Amino acid sequence: MSDSDTERPAVGIGRERQFEVYVGGARGAYPTVPVSFDRLEQRARKAMTPEGYAYVAGGAGTEETIRENRAAFERWRIVPRMLRDVSVRKTSVEVLGTPMSSPFALCPIGVLEMAHKDADVTVARAAAAEGIPFIFSNQASRPMEETARAMGDAPRWFQLYWSTSDELVASFVSRAENCGCSAIVLTLDTTMLGWRIRDLDLAYLPFLRGKGIAQYTSDPVFIDALHETLRTTAPPGGRVTPAALGTLWELVGSHPGSRLTNLRSGLAQAAVRRFVETYSRPSLSWDDLAFLRERTRLPILLKGILHPHDASAAVEHGMDGIVVSNHGGRQVDGAIGTMDALPGIVDAVAQRVPILLDSGVRSGADVFRALALGAAAVGLGRPYVWGLAAGGEEGVREVIRNLRADFDLTMGLAGCASVREIGRDSVQPAAG
Ligand SMILES: Cc1cc2nc3c(=O)[nH]c(=O)nc-3n(C[C@H](O)[C@H](O)[C@H](O)COP(=O)(O)O)c2cc1C
Repeated sequence: MSDSDTERPAVGIGRERQFEVYVGGARGAYPTVPVSFDRLEQRARKAMTPEGYAYVAGGAGTEETIRENRAAFERWRIVPRMLRDVSVRKTSVEVLGTPMSSPFALCPIGVLEMAHKDADVTVARAAAAEGIPFIFSNQASRPMEETARAMGDAPRWFQLYWSTSDELVASFVSRAENCGCSAIVLTLDTTMLGWRIRDLDLAYLPFLRGKGIAQYTSDPVFIDALHETLRTTAPPGGRVTPAALGTLWELVGSHPGSRLTNLRSGLAQAAVRRFVETYSRPSLSWDDLAFLRERTRLPILLKGILHPHDASAAVEHGMDGIVVSNHGGRQVDGAIGTMDALPGIVDAVAQRVPILLDSGVRSGADVFRALALGAAAVGLGRPYVWGLAAGGEEGVREVIRNLRADFDLTMGLAGCASVREIGRDSVQPAAG
């Protein structure tokens, strides 16, 4: 780098972010959260309860799928091209009409209150400020209306779990439409919870403490059903232990309204019981999709697709997009890494609908490699949760900015001035 280089204004998010950090350092200021993903996770861990950390970090079984996601990225190598004028770069994309300042969205992640008290609302502000869409989780800690209010007109999608009540499904979808969500992401891979050893060892599931059920407790259909549960079911008996009292305290604190009112009404406990009865529908099958298709004009994406035949079936059932995902390795241990699944799915879909990919995205090089293999964009998951725990809104913003910067520089240094120039020949399988 010549001297004159350092005097020229930074161009593009990559150089801007580098200058911001380095110039800050010259004045004694450091980034709010570590740039290194491993150090970021360590910092977040210190800020979280052991249960909260385990819930976010953990995966199914021996966590082989988490490792496989990374290994699958690392099996691809970028082949940079030279002398291609990359002085001005365009990283923005549009997916299903939704603008993204860089080709990624924030994955739906439940129970964000375990990372930060303002949870989804804080993440929404950060995403809006960076022009990155936020996919609201069905298991959010704040009602979607509150989260939507925090982000003005910024882009957002809604992720749906199909519960045992079609009426509740329809209600969630119509609320999402009213919240300005511009797509529905139907997650298919969690009809039951995976066998998560870290959570089992701590005997901890946040939902049973009233956490991560805010979309339900703010829903008119759910609330009606809740009053019915309260009328017809006897409160659970059992021995009163200090731990049980602690859980009750936590539970009544998580429910809307004051602790005292909740203690008296029994609504908080009833909400958890009702949630457990309602949460998932393992019988869900392809024919059910027609119900959803009829209820919304928004684009619908299927999340959790890993087999090319399922990808084709999604298109044949009128779905508008696919998210290649294994839920960050939280559902099936020993599952295929998403980067290994992607090429077959790209072939099967043959450009009929856009394909997104998540699970294991940790760097600009990962975003680049997924795009090279045919993804339209990727989903960022755990890293922003670590940013949230370690640094609140600014922490999430920095995680997003760092990934945007890393991607911009990787793309330019690989010889691509825009996302459109990233192609199958930008990567090749690693040797050996
Ligand atoms: C703590 C946690 C909670 C999650 N909650 C949801 C959820 O509510 N809905 C959903 O579709 N996916 C959920 N996911 C999966 C993410 O959307 C995404 O697929 C995954 O985090 C990607 O893996 P990565 O974070 O390792 O990159 C969750 C993931 C984590 C880590």
